[in-house]
Amino acid sequence: MPKGLTMSEVQPTETDKTEQDDASQTRRRFLTAATSVVAAGGVVGVAVPFLGSWNPSEKAKAAGAPVKADVSKLEPGQMVVVEWRGQPVYVLHRTEEQLADLAKLDGSLKDPASATSDQPGYVSGEARSIRPELFVAVGLCTHLGCAPKFRPEVGAADLGGDDWLGGFFCPCHGSKFDLAGRVYQGVPASDNLVVPPYSFEGNDVLVIGVDAEAA
Ligand code: FES
Repeated sequence: MPKGLTMSEVQPTETDKTEQDDASQTRRRFLTAATSVVAAGGVVGVAVPFLGSWNPSEKAKAAGAPVKADVSKLEPGQMVVVEWRGQPVYVLHRTEEQLADLAKLDGSLKDPASATSDQPGYVSGEARSIRPELFVAVGLCTHLGCAPKFRPEVGAADLGGDDWLGGFFCPCHGSKFDLAGRVYQGVPASDNLVVPPYSFEGNDVLVIGVDAEAA
């Protein structure tokens, strides 16, 4: 894991065994997510940049406090992972090409309009984001909770060749999602990746955990 990647550990309380177990499981999933992102970066030459952030205390985070991250340095095509409530949140700056490709996929997806998927009301359309280029989603597969890998390579032979326009691939049981987190047909997952509540402070600061409408 590169130094500077914005992640921190969730510390479960010592007295609550159940919470401890849950936190450990989430932590494992989170590390898997981080590893996946780094691994994908190694394969396709996509750097995972340092994402400046400032976070609340561990206790406040465990209670669900919002997390802020500076996204001003996130270049088109790059993705970082930010931890929120012990979950990995993927933050991807999509290129113009990647955005344009989303419109080509409706016929291959289970829920292209996200009619049954979990996302805030202020996120709509095929981009599933407030700002078209910036995609924000919980990085946990909606099948059984593994961490999908970031696979932006168009035409990846192992993911469908010419039909693959970049997206996320869950290696656990083979679920595929596009670069808006929309799940493909013919895979175990039924729902699109969850979009958490989020908003912006000015141009540069992403706030995960605070609804845009309430910001
Ligand atoms: S957990 Fe992702 S496909 Fe099963």
